[in-house]
Amino acid sequence: MPIDGSSVSDQTVCVTGAGGFIASWLVKLLLEKGYTVKGTVRNPDDPKNCHLKDLEGAKERLVLCKADLLDYESLREAIKGCHGVFHTASPVTDDPEQMVEPAVNGTKYIIDAAAEAGVRRVVFTSSIGAVTMNPSRGPDVVVDESCWSDLDFCKITKNWYCYGKTVAEQAAWEMAKEKGVDLVVVNPVLVMGPLLQPTVNASIIHILKYLTGSAKTYANSVQAYVDVRDVALAHVLVYETPSASGRFLCAESVLHRGEVVEILSKFFPEYPIPTKCSDEVKPRAKPYKFSNQKLKDLGLEFITVKQSLYESVKNLQEKGHLPIPTQTEDAALRIPAL
Ligand SMILES: NC(=O)c1ccc[n+]([C@@H]2O[C@H](COP(=O)([O-])OP(=O)(O)OC[C@H]3O[C@@H](n4cnc5c(N)ncnc54)[C@H](OP(=O)(O)O)[C@@H]3O)[C@@H](O)[C@H]2O)c1
Repeated sequence: MPIDGSSVSDQTVCVTGAGGFIASWLVKLLLEKGYTVKGTVRNPDDPKNCHLKDLEGAKERLVLCKADLLDYESLREAIKGCHGVFHTASPVTDDPEQMVEPAVNGTKYIIDAAAEAGVRRVVFTSSIGAVTMNPSRGPDVVVDESCWSDLDFCKITKNWYCYGKTVAEQAAWEMAKEKGVDLVVVNPVLVMGPLLQPTVNASIIHILKYLTGSAKTYANSVQAYVDVRDVALAHVLVYETPSASGRFLCAESVLHRGEVVEILSKFFPEYPIPTKCSDEVKPRAKPYKFSNQKLKDLGLEFITVKQSLYESVKNLQEKGHLPIPTQTEDAALRIPAL
């Protein structure tokens, strides 16, 4: 139920970047729940946004609005009349020129427009990139919502995506306070799972590269993972729970790349999945400890990383992004133990 206790059917919410990987699942969930959704896209006629029109309830309750993060008026128009805003749109790139300005100024515009429209709550999709990029964090620290990335470290290491997301989240908190906007933030880790959109986004390439033969080795590093359907649900839970506040780390587990390729090759031995680490000299990187308790307390039961990896690959095959190799009889009969 919406935070003000009104019926979902009376509520209009705006989702920015509606055609994206996470936003598409969020729009789907919001429509299923009965919300009316104004989804912003840069080009409503682009075939890459067509999947949105096929979602259940879209014909009756989805309006696509043309908006760009650098165009305040277009965002203002999309947010006008909305009870809530989910700000998911952002460039996902390490090119500083393409990343920082739209991520930061776009977020400021959203908070400004939300304040002007009297929106009841804004949910901002931040990132683990605004949480963990900090060299002074000790190995035993449990990564949670109190952790922030270090901007100088992001700059020195040229992690412009993490830099942009960190500055954008900081700006969101500052402006929300100044303008009296009720802001809640979700910080997802690397997101995988089935695609609704026809194109492949950056985080799915992280998995795809291990199946196509383009990655010959795997890195000696760790990464936290979560399924896209849980990220969408997390957004709705923090929107609908009146007491939800602050940041919400959205993560299922932290794996070494070696564990990822091992899971993939158990399910899909037909693919040229790397078996060697690119660095066999340094000790194996250790997973960091983290807490996803805040979202669990809201009732979120996370899809396991194994299931998510399995379904990601199946979906890539179904969508034609990954050729299906001729199966051996064994593989065809194998029932995956998720
Ligand atoms: N996927 C992950 O692993 C992950 C993890 C943590 C956080 N996040 C965050 O989650 C959000 C969604 O990510 P995603 O993985 O779903 O990425 P995605 O599929 O690439 O979606 C990003 C969306 O942002 C839109 N966008 C980019 N620049 C824009 C601009 N200048 N004006 C208007 N719209 C713009 C894109 O629109 P176009 O289609 O027009 O380009 C697209 O719809 C982002 O904020 C990202 O930082 C993602």
